[in-house]
Amino acid sequence: MEKLKSLRRLYHLGKEYSEDPFHLEAERLTQKEIDKRPFRYEIINLLLQKGGKAHTNYLEIGVRNPDHNFNKIDSKAKYGVDPGVEFKENPVDFKLTSDAFFDQLRKGEVLEPTIKFDVIFIDGLHLAEQVDRDIKNALDFISEDGFIVLHDCNPPTQYHASENFAYKKSPAGRFWTGTSWKAFYRARLNPSTSSCCIDTDWGVGIISKNNLFTHLEKDINPYLEFSVFEENRTESLNLISFNKLKEIISSH
Ligand SMILES: C[S@@+](CC[C@H](N)C(=O)[O-])C[C@H]1O[C@@H](n2cnc3c(N)ncnc32)[C@H](O)[C@@H]1O
Repeated sequence: MEKLKSLRRLYHLGKEYSEDPFHLEAERLTQKEIDKRPFRYEIINLLLQKGGKAHTNYLEIGVRNPDHNFNKIDSKAKYGVDPGVEFKENPVDFKLTSDAFFDQLRKGEVLEPTIKFDVIFIDGLHLAEQVDRDIKNALDFISEDGFIVLHDCNPPTQYHASENFAYKKSPAGRFWTGTSWKAFYRARLNPSTSSCCIDTDWGVGIISKNNLFTHLEKDINPYLEFSVFEENRTESLNLISFNKLKEIISSH
C-alpha cells in the first residue's frame, strides 16, 4: 500500500482516483514492471559482447539523459541521435530526428554510409509508424550478426500503450510506452528476421537477421487490437526471460 501511495504521488494524482479499479490495477502492474530486472543496458551489453569482437559499433536512437542508458553501454564506438525534445542539454553526436539521421547517413553526410552497427537501440518517438520506419532503416545498417533492440514493447495495459503522451490523469499516469508494441509485432511477421522480447524493463524487443529466435508464421492480430495482443502476449512478442536469452546467446 505504501508503494502504491508513493507511486500515486509520483503520478501527481489526487485522491479522486484512489478507489478507481482501472487506476488501481494499472498502478499495480506499473509497480510490477518497475520491480523487474535486469535493465535494458544489461541486455544491450550482453548482445554487444556476443562473438567477442574487439571493436563494436553502437547506435542509440532517442537518448534523452545519457546517464540512464547510453553512458552504461560498453562499446568501442557509440553514437547517439536525438533532436532534443525532452532533455535540454541533449549531449548527443547527432541532434536530428531518426528519419533525418538515416537520410543523411545514406548520403554520407554523417559517418560513413557503409558503417555497420553491432546494436542499434531504437528508443526515440514511440509511435508505431515511426518505429516501423526506424526498424526498416536500422535493418540496412546492422551487421549480419548484429541486433536491433527496442524499448517499451510490452505495455502492461492499454493506458500505457495510448497514443497520447500528454494525458497524465490516465491510469498509467506518467508511465507511457506508446505504440511501439505494434511496430515490434509487425516486425515479427517478417520471415527474414527472428525476434524475441525480454520480459523486463517494459519489454526489451530484439530483432536479428539470423535464425536465433522465432518469427510469427501467421498474423493473429491483423487490426492490432490491444485486447487481442493481451490475450496472446507471449506468442505476439515471443516473450522470454533474460536467462532464456543468455542460454540462446551462449548456444549459438
Ligand atoms: C524514451 S526517451 C529515450 C530514453 C533513453 N534511450 C534511455 O534508455 O534512457 C525518448 C527520446 O527520443 C527523442 N525523440 C523524440 N522524437 C524523436 C525522433 N523522431 N527521432 C529520434 N529521437 C526522438 C526524445 O527527444 C527523447 O529524448
